[in-house]
Amino acid sequence: MCGIVGYVGKRTAQNVLLNGLKRLEYRGYDSAGIATLDDNNRPHIARSIGKIAELENVLLTKPHDGHLGIGHTRWATHGGVTVTNAHPHHVGNIYLVHNGIIENYKELKEKLSKYNFQSDTDTEVFAALIDSNYKDGISLKDAVAKAAKQVRGTYGIAVFSPNEPNTLIVARLGSPLIIGLGQNETIIASDASALLGYTREAIYLNDGELAVCTDKGAEVFNLNLKHLNANHETIDGNVEQIQKGGYQHFLLKEIMEQATTLHNTLSGRIDPKLGKMHLGGPNLTEEEMRNIKHIVIVGCGTAYYAGLLASYYMEQLVPDLTIEVVIASEYRYRSFHLPKDSVALIVSQSGETADTLACLREIKKRGIKTLGIVNVVGSTIAREVDGGTYVHAGPEISVASTKAFTAQVVTMVMFAGMLAEYHSGNAELISKITKELSELPKEIETTLKKHHDEVKALAKKYAKYNDALYLGRDTAYPIALEGALKLKEISYIHAEGYASGELKHGPIALVDETFFEVFSIIDNWLFDKSIGGLHEVRARGGKTIVLTNSDAEIDADDIIRINSKIKILAPLLLNTLQQLFAYYIAVDRGNDVDQPRNLAKSVTVE
Ligand code: M6R
Repeated sequence: MCGIVGYVGKRTAQNVLLNGLKRLEYRGYDSAGIATLDDNNRPHIARSIGKIAELENVLLTKPHDGHLGIGHTRWATHGGVTVTNAHPHHVGNIYLVHNGIIENYKELKEKLSKYNFQSDTDTEVFAALIDSNYKDGISLKDAVAKAAKQVRGTYGIAVFSPNEPNTLIVARLGSPLIIGLGQNETIIASDASALLGYTREAIYLNDGELAVCTDKGAEVFNLNLKHLNANHETIDGNVEQIQKGGYQHFLLKEIMEQATTLHNTLSGRIDPKLGKMHLGGPNLTEEEMRNIKHIVIVGCGTAYYAGLLASYYMEQLVPDLTIEVVIASEYRYRSFHLPKDSVALIVSQSGETADTLACLREIKKRGIKTLGIVNVVGSTIAREVDGGTYVHAGPEISVASTKAFTAQVVTMVMFAGMLAEYHSGNAELISKITKELSELPKEIETTLKKHHDEVKALAKKYAKYNDALYLGRDTAYPIALEGALKLKEISYIHAEGYASGELKHGPIALVDETFFEVFSIIDNWLFDKSIGGLHEVRARGGKTIVLTNSDAEIDADDIIRINSKIKILAPLLLNTLQQLFAYYIAVDRGNDVDQPRNLAKSVTVE
């Protein structure tokens, strides 16, 4: 969602801010702006709606050479998409950018009635609150700390005032802020990708902390202004990883690089000769591993579907486990009870999803151990879980999640494989899956290359349809859900995923020649039943596409057969083809593939 960047140092702030905002574009936004202080200590604000390119156009007419500033990409929550609502907000002596939501902004606004508010935003109220505290000789740091205690809600903020021209104040509560420490420069951002190429040394601010940043570095305090010794950490990743690398879109790059990223996910974690899987991060003793009887998997969107698919494998690998997979936005408000011998897997690419984070906190309150299955290193979820494993998919820039899905499923399967050793698990299956995991990167690469043109042609054929059903049974069912999600979010085609056994319970009423149906059919003991569903749809005039690893005769409008030695994990291969299919349909329809309308990469508000 919204993104923050700030700079103080030797470079021209405007350039660093624009560069940083471009790196944050992928998060999804509808307006952007920057505020800088020029070398004569005069503030300048530029804001625009639409893409960063619009902001660049505005700035072309008024370039400034100051060395301090803040920038923001806004995803509207309070108030429409207008220049006036865009950040930075300026009130009195305060310039502020803000991520998050101030819940008590209406009551604060009433108390601050002496200000002539211009926008509909909670952020402008926050700025006024800081300004109202910034008097009687108190410092900007103290004014921000006081205001931070007066607001209710979530925030990541960066603030400056012309009164203290070499200082940026940043603070966080529930919205990430990272301080990059360079040589005579400090760059702050809500996302580490904006810092890459400037510095690798960083402080990840914790909730309830604020920092005073200058070109000499940063000092961290709590809101009672007690000085804290902050950990200096190393930022993961490099600039190449956040570039398109010759591809037309990040999405295509991320689909196509799955062999490489999966190799990183698996590296050092499986031994196909011994049939063993091992993850370093869960932080559980042997006794704790033995005692686990119940697993709850929590996630949103694609992360939820990854959990659902993993659960099918986990219950086969560890037969004495009960597994529950839950949608975070629902679970957080349920009166749920978890047995003491439970472990929660918190699945999130970004590690910042508000609902997932809220669930994590609810589960922790009940004394249950939480393990993160997270991609973004140093993210809030990764920091708050008791243990966990990074999925090592590398930066995922496109809003639609692809390579992270594959990495999440595989990581949870490895966790189950490891757990199985303490639970007299299914040894034969562990050995088979370990072998398949070792072969999976190569097989994904081959599948994507071999069927690329076929999928592209298929996408062209179906790009004009407005409705689709995705169907599958058993491990192909979560794949059907994920396939439908991918299609709808980037192509805007109405698509629904169903377990094919559910067809007769309702969705078959939709089937006619205006719909197309994608069947993922795995060559296993349910094959005949899957084919039954396909026949029922064909009999009613539905246009059918089958993705399968079977070589049996199948009657459908279009079939893509993968010929792979991967059997148990075949749904992951079929899913990569669904990703490619959705991608090419979206391209064909002329959509903004990497930043689909209304969506944000990390959903940091409810
Ligand atoms: O960062 P997270 O994995 O927690 O994100 C969860 C969902 O918001 C995310 O998977 C979303 O559904 C994607 N747009 C799917 O492509």
